[in-house]
Amino acid sequence: MVEEQPMVDMDTIVSLCKRRGFIFQSSEIYGGVGGSWDYGPYGVELKRNIKNIWWRDMVQRRDDMVGLDAAILMHTRVWEASGHVESFTDPMVDCMNCKKRFRADQVENAVCPECGGQLTEPRLFNLMLKTYLGPVEDDASLTYLRPETAQGMFVNFANVLDVSRKKLPFGMAQIGKAFRNEITPRNFTFRTREFEQMEIEYFVKPGTDEEWHQRWVQDRFEWYVKYGIRRDFLRLRQHEGDELAHYSKATQDIEYLFPFGWSELEGISNRTDFDLRQHASFSGRDLVYFDEETGTHLVPYIIEPSGGVDRAALAFLVDAYHEERVRKEKRVVLRLHSELAPVKAAVFPLLRNRPELVTIAKQIASELRVEMMTVYDDTASIGRLYRRQDEIGTPFCITVDVDSLEDNAVTIRERDSMEQTRVPIPEVKDTLLGRLGKL
Ligand code: GAP
Repeated sequence: MVEEQPMVDMDTIVSLCKRRGFIFQSSEIYGGVGGSWDYGPYGVELKRNIKNIWWRDMVQRRDDMVGLDAAILMHTRVWEASGHVESFTDPMVDCMNCKKRFRADQVENAVCPECGGQLTEPRLFNLMLKTYLGPVEDDASLTYLRPETAQGMFVNFANVLDVSRKKLPFGMAQIGKAFRNEITPRNFTFRTREFEQMEIEYFVKPGTDEEWHQRWVQDRFEWYVKYGIRRDFLRLRQHEGDELAHYSKATQDIEYLFPFGWSELEGISNRTDFDLRQHASFSGRDLVYFDEETGTHLVPYIIEPSGGVDRAALAFLVDAYHEERVRKEKRVVLRLHSELAPVKAAVFPLLRNRPELVTIAKQIASELRVEMMTVYDDTASIGRLYRRQDEIGTPFCITVDVDSLEDNAVTIRERDSMEQTRVPIPEVKDTLLGRLGKL
């Protein structure tokens, strides 16, 4: 009998992530550093899977998209043209007593949340992380770690148009690190100072922008549902006028119901022709498109679906987390979509002190490894081995038992149903590939 317990709190997720090797605190042995996290052996697989399926669905499987991998360090003028030097700011207040700093919108009653002291008037702080290129630290060598990957795609518009020979509408996609000096990093990997973005800049003819905006909002919403996020835990939220970024005509956020409340997973903005016009004016280069239908030059509008890899990973983890009672014992299982699961198959010998079983199990694991992420494990009893794999979301466990020596078959146990089937050893690989939808 299986009973479900649907709600999970963040402490449970953080502790599972550490215990099972998804996410560790950065520089933990030195006491950690705020707003930075390290992805362990299973976390890195989860993130790679998210990025791979995004790239496959957004680039490989579409005729109207191409990829890009632009540098993190860009010309300082980029950030002047983009508006980030002037506008990428948060209003901050300082406590005159304990000297701590807070975001003005996160303080209630105009007193310090830590010591009750008096606060200064709000002042604007730029969120870009500064650095210097070369040996001299002066204004001429000052630059920033990019706070979004987007600008690399805008400044390469003419290059990509030239080589790809794409016609409007078409898009560029990029995955990469971005940095923001967030004053209050919070909620585990939700708001960090270093994070990864998956961004699309989709160039369209002016006048068709609103329709394309809606199409992308729907497409991106359904993408999260396709990979297992419960539809009821997703919603769209339109930005109000005063909330809109300086470049945006309209923005819709896809929000997920995290344990700390509804929060942004991805934003889809209509950036109009703001970026191309700004970069054309600051660089003096023509960033226009020749429209063969009308015989005129135009500046494309840009629709931008911009998501975070880390936030997606967190949402997939939270949504997949299930606690059940199975034969009076608690079972924790991550019901991750099989494409996201860090490990696809785990192989165990039922008895680790029987070398014949160990040899067969290791042989099966090494054959499966060619096709899919596979682990071999014999470091605990079979019950514990299953529990370990359930907790990291492994869809299939394969057990070699004493009967295997007679019937040349093994037991495949499916993660969610816990159903066990006996499969001849030579058919194991194709059975798994078939069940993973890879045949
Ligand atoms: N180019 C548009 C842009 O950067 P954004 O809403 O500021 O828009 C896009 O960021 C996405 O990047 C967010 O939806 C979120 O998933 C991710 N993101 C932004 N800031 C983040 C942070 N401090 N920590 C983790 N992810 C973040």
